[in-house]
Amino acid sequence: MTKTPIRLTVNGVPHDIAVEPRRTLADALRDDCGLTGTHLGCEHGVCGACTVLLDGEVVRACLHFAIQADGRTIRTVEGLATPDGTLNPLQHAFWQHHGLQCGFCTPGFLMLATWLLEQEEPVDEARLRHVLSSNLCRCTGYQNILTAVRAAAQAIGKWTEAA
Ligand code: FES
Ligand code: FES
Repeated sequence: MTKTPIRLTVNGVPHDIAVEPRRTLADALRDDCGLTGTHLGCEHGVCGACTVLLDGEVVRACLHFAIQADGRTIRTVEGLATPDGTLNPLQHAFWQHHGLQCGFCTPGFLMLATWLLEQEEPVDEARLRHVLSSNLCRCTGYQNILTAVRAAAQAIGKWTEAA
């Protein structure tokens, strides 16, 4: 099948690749850009393991075609730590509060929580639970993930007790 040249700017780095029209954004990130931090679980929009930010919005990379992202900016888990490997506050909170076990769901949760913490409004318990409920984890249990994101929100001054 004919391939279409596209440019994906991922974590600030341009990737000029050629993809078949049916190629998903998740496959393009993993197989064409070599960024395998974005995981694939269900591949039909349920689990959230493939969550990335597309022009600042949360998307399921398994539900987007790569050509839909042509010319757009994407952020993936690989862009969170500094180049020397220093964890950002959210990653540090996951580490400190045991917010992962096998780690399969973790990139998706990290990108979802990144989006949450970058919104203007502060985060309260209800909003935290509502947003994080869109992703699935099969082994950690959700309490530690909630604790980690709550702690990160507190650390950067984004937490509120107000309902
Ligand atoms: S792999 Fe995309 S939502 Fe599950
Ligand atoms: S840490 Fe294993 S699926 Fe979430």
